[in-house]
Amino acid sequence: MSKRRIGILTSGGDCPGLNATIRGVAKACYERFGEDNVEIVGISNGYYGLINNLCKDMSPSAFSGILTQGGTIFGTKRQPFKMMQVIGEDNVDKVKNMKETYKKQKLDCLLTLGGNGTHKTSKLLSDEGLNVIGLPKTIDNDIYGTDVTFGFHTAVDIATDVIDRLHTTAASHSRILVCEIMGNKAGWLTLNAGIAGGADIIIIPEIPYDIDKVCDAVMARSASGKTFSILAVAEGAFDVTEAKMKKKERAKKRAEAGIITATSRIAAQIQANTGMEARVCVPGHMLRGGAPSAYDRVLSTQFGVHAAYMIAQEKYGRTVAKIGNKITSNKLADIAGKTKFVDTNDHIVIAARDIGVSFGD
Ligand code: F6P
Repeated sequence: MSKRRIGILTSGGDCPGLNATIRGVAKACYERFGEDNVEIVGISNGYYGLINNLCKDMSPSAFSGILTQGGTIFGTKRQPFKMMQVIGEDNVDKVKNMKETYKKQKLDCLLTLGGNGTHKTSKLLSDEGLNVIGLPKTIDNDIYGTDVTFGFHTAVDIATDVIDRLHTTAASHSRILVCEIMGNKAGWLTLNAGIAGGADIIIIPEIPYDIDKVCDAVMARSASGKTFSILAVAEGAFDVTEAKMKKKERAKKRAEAGIITATSRIAAQIQANTGMEARVCVPGHMLRGGAPSAYDRVLSTQFGVHAAYMIAQEKYGRTVAKIGNKITSNKLADIAGKTKFVDTNDHIVIAARDIGVSFGD
């Protein structure tokens, strides 16, 4: 059997499960092809490393002991897709460089672990003739064509813990606590953590909120003797008026008002309209830190194993996915550039409404 040289990079925001996935790929390749027939090349800091030939031949021992490790052993960087084909002041032709690194490193294939932006560049490189396999990571769970991404469930667990802890302090002080949860475009993380943490009001980008309805929900709880309320608000939430605006216009309007985030604005409006004290909690990057959950360790391992199977089959130009209970793959061309949003009629949304959760609509 001829030797296979496999390049691996992690790109975009990190998340728990990146190392577990890298380990899954490596171990499955060593098992399947034999340690002597596989060379794994670690590429530093995502596409930046591919552009600048920051590559290192890895030894099999590098992939031991990393199952539980958060972050990524290869490092990561955001390298916006929209700039990939633009030659800037540095005069670097990024696409040309990436192809040259691939060639110089004598890679047989390139594995890209990343989110939506990463997948767009993966498709671009695949169109340029590179043998690319994507692996879907993100705490946002918004990659099209897969039911779940690794990192998501861990972030749900962390965000749920945050909301649990907010309950006791909110109840003690009879306050409104507004928890901002990551997710700029899609509300999967907020929706799931909100339900798991028993939030009273859940605000997600897919369901623009009406602040009067939000305040009504808070007042209704207060009238029934519940002196506190917990709101789970997605980072990218917007109200019904903002929903009619373009993203830039929305950002400009918020900047003029001096309040950038939806969360701070919602808290200020609740306090002003209801007279109840409101506080904001932003767990931020804590949601992406630390060890992956048991669920994500299993999913990452399955995804890594499937990527090794795809390498054996030379099934390139695709990204690994979980659909139902099956680990499979989608063509990059079918999923790149699309976002998986929460369906407002999703059974999870309906279940939340059925127990009295308000979506502020
Ligand atoms: O894509 C994952 C994510 O955590 C989003 O939820 C969030 O909007 C964004 O990354 C934050 O990015 P950065 O860490 O680059 O500020």
